[in-house]
Amino acid sequence: MLERSLALDVVRITEASALASARLMGAGDEAAADAAAVEAMASVFKELAIVGTVVLGEGTASSETLLPSGTKVGQGDIHLDVALDALEGTNICATGGPNAMSVVAVGMPGSILPVPEVYMEKLAVGPRARGAIDIARPLEENLKTVSGALGKQISELTVVVLDRPRNREVIESVRRLGARLRFIGDGDVSSAIATAMEDSGVDCLVGIGGAPQGVLSAVALKCVGGDFQGRLRFRNPAEREAAVAMGLDDPDRIMVVDDLARGEDLLFVASGVTDGDLLKGVRFVPWAAYTQSLVLALRSRVIRRIESYHAL
Ligand code: FBP
Repeated sequence: MLERSLALDVVRITEASALASARLMGAGDEAAADAAAVEAMASVFKELAIVGTVVLGEGTASSETLLPSGTKVGQGDIHLDVALDALEGTNICATGGPNAMSVVAVGMPGSILPVPEVYMEKLAVGPRARGAIDIARPLEENLKTVSGALGKQISELTVVVLDRPRNREVIESVRRLGARLRFIGDGDVSSAIATAMEDSGVDCLVGIGGAPQGVLSAVALKCVGGDFQGRLRFRNPAEREAAVAMGLDDPDRIMVVDDLARGEDLLFVASGVTDGDLLKGVRFVPWAAYTQSLVLALRSRVIRRIESYHAL
């Protein structure tokens, strides 16, 4: 069971990358914040007792980053898939905004779907609205079934969307229906997971964001019994070809949560970099750095928050 054997080790990884990037909060340098997070993550991964294959990493083998997709991490004997985003919300961290996190998901080999760095149309909800979504149907219909499942009126439903021109149609649909809209500048993984937290004030995430972040969101939501559907969106034929080359026979098909996150043993860990809906960001006290992390494990269905003080 991954949770028992690995949870604390994986927390150490996301804590390290959160701590490293948090020192550059608001510095206006996305590349430096990302590099600090990836470097710290790569160094702690080395100590892990697994043979991990990074299926979703920081770019591809041709990119000059540590931890690209395809990298092997760890030095043990448990074979696992690893998906990571050392700094989910590089821009957020660089500008000192809300919801930047460091994220790692692990599962048995073949459990986390590799996708190229393209966009994905997403629909994410928490456990109470599980089964109430169908991305093939118009958004208005989905929001009506979700509000029914949550026992809310449409005007009480809070829908989060990435503030991008490509999401204009989605925004207009939500407004036409009369639901509440919350715009985010970046960081849709945090909002997708927030749909599963009753006190977050977020009911549904919709719109187009990054595909790797969609897979990470699906792993997290599967662990807590939420629901997620996505459809890859390509800007040109080369992007579609990249998806086919990665083994997606029908890259235009709708992917449900079990397509993106398979199997019964999955672990999702995130540490806050900046303060957000889901997690507190890194804080510095005179003798220590404080981190808060979220651990979600499919088998136990426990949502854990881990607070750590790292002596300076
Ligand atoms: P990073 O992890 O690369 O910083 O992604 C941040 C993010 O806002 C994601 O949360 C989101 O899915 C994606 O970027 C949206 O992409 P774009 O900024 O190209 O619209």
